[in-house]
Amino acid sequence: MLIAILPGDGIGREIVPEAVKVLRALASFGFDATLEEAPIGGAGLEAADDPLPPATLDLARRADAILLGAVGDPRYANYPHGKLPGVGLRRLRKELDLFANFRPARLLPELRDASTLKPEVVDGLDLLLLRELTGDIYYGTPRGRGKTEAGEREAVNTMRYRESEIARIGHVAFRVARTRRGKVCSVDKANVLEVMALWREVMTEVGREYPDVELTHMYVDAAAMQLVRAPKAFDVIVSPNLFGDILSDQAAMLTGSIGMLASASLGATTQGLYEPVHGSAPDIAGKGVANPLATILSAAMMLRHSFGHEDLAARVETAVRRVLAEGWRTADIAEPGRRTIGTREMGERVAAAL
Ligand code: IPM
Ligand code: MG
Repeated sequence: MLIAILPGDGIGREIVPEAVKVLRALASFGFDATLEEAPIGGAGLEAADDPLPPATLDLARRADAILLGAVGDPRYANYPHGKLPGVGLRRLRKELDLFANFRPARLLPELRDASTLKPEVVDGLDLLLLRELTGDIYYGTPRGRGKTEAGEREAVNTMRYRESEIARIGHVAFRVARTRRGKVCSVDKANVLEVMALWREVMTEVGREYPDVELTHMYVDAAAMQLVRAPKAFDVIVSPNLFGDILSDQAAMLTGSIGMLASASLGATTQGLYEPVHGSAPDIAGKGVANPLATILSAAMMLRHSFGHEDLAARVETAVRRVLAEGWRTADIAEPGRRTIGTREMGERVAAAL
């Protein structure tokens, strides 16, 4: 088994080593994998002048699973579009056809007071945001910058979906809803955009094949509101790429901190890309204070989805909960006045709690 380790930029380089620590500690429970590291994002630009160096893509292709930290480095923010750090991640997802992005938002009882929302609104929260990951305005053409005839700067991006792309993420949503509470809420903007009207149409058609699953539709603006008003009403939210990017950050905050939210990106096989939902957080990078739990929980998702080790995944999740129950907190999830621990200590405590 080969795991590609892509720390990326910013706090990615601090949190990934902690998740690696946890994966290595699982050796004593029989988990045996080869870990190989490569640069992506700003680190890719630094190493090979490419946000997704060919050697990194090659490693990712060979790997059974990929663990990624975060991409994004302000030093490269003014690079031409094709060379932005985030493009490395976008290309990686596309090259491996990882179209289904699972972003579960679950409130751990240990963190019920860490959310900025009232406890009764988020207590027991358990929703899955399923984001389509390889289509939409992120990839649609035409795209680019130019000038109008009058010489004014102009730029364009295209929101585009084919029905097959909508149907395949739809099937994933309905199938996973069957293992949960049997409800799918499809998010779109069908009242304004043709492409979103197609999204709704195809979702409805696919839904007919799953009469046991309840399908509702919601405009994305209303969904943003409901997500903070009554988030527990949701089970599975299936969403186009752009809206899913936005709603998943919002869903993350319901759980107390975006530093807690893990994700898995899957395609047609068990190969998967696992990464925290948060970004590279340049403001706190290098300080040793970032929360490694989202990455550690992403590694748990990897154990479950790519390697079929439900037992080890549960072991990691239990270890995280135990450390939280003992009261250990990184700064992002600490109540005011409470003593906090750093990135490394959190990683070590989880590894020890396994
Ligand atoms: C995410 C991130 C990425 C995205 C960026 C870094 C390209 O925001 O995974 O949510 O927009 O998909
Ligand atoms: Mg995002």
